[in-house]
Amino acid sequence: MKGKYKILFVCLGNICRSPAAQGVMQRLIDERGLNERFYLDSAGTYGGHAGELPDRRMRVHAQRRGYELTHRSRRVTGRDLEDFDLIVAMDASNRYNLQEMAATVDESRKIIMMGDYIRHYPHYDYIPDPYYEGAEGFELVLNLLEDACAALLDELV
Ligand code: 4NP
Repeated sequence: MKGKYKILFVCLGNICRSPAAQGVMQRLIDERGLNERFYLDSAGTYGGHAGELPDRRMRVHAQRRGYELTHRSRRVTGRDLEDFDLIVAMDASNRYNLQEMAATVDESRKIIMMGDYIRHYPHYDYIPDPYYEGAEGFELVLNLLEDACAALLDELV
């Protein structure tokens, strides 16, 4: 991973949105032959699901689109803010918690919002938490992430 541009996707539990973002972005990177240039990971601001696979509902909806989500949940650490080049928050609460962790201005500047890259869903400027939602919530998350990850990758390359 040396020399690679390192992106960390962050949500609350690291079992729905951020592992899905990681999976969506990984496929875009694979499709565009950019594997040598990027390293991806995801984490959550809440550590209560540490060690778990993504939520079953998220895995089922993702699998229907061909994404195999195998990430194991982990809590974001202060070290992550040092190590990663870009930290992508799914909503304002995630961003707030990350900003609280930032030890330097440089770390603080690494934190961006996934929602800022949504192009085709004008009613959304963040990735809504699907945990207490039905199937539509998970489909919406995937629609928003496919849109935003493509825009973010366009900007990075
Ligand atoms: P995520 O979804 O932040 O997209 O992984 C959630 C996962 C777990 C909980 C809330 C949201 N929870 O309250 O345990």
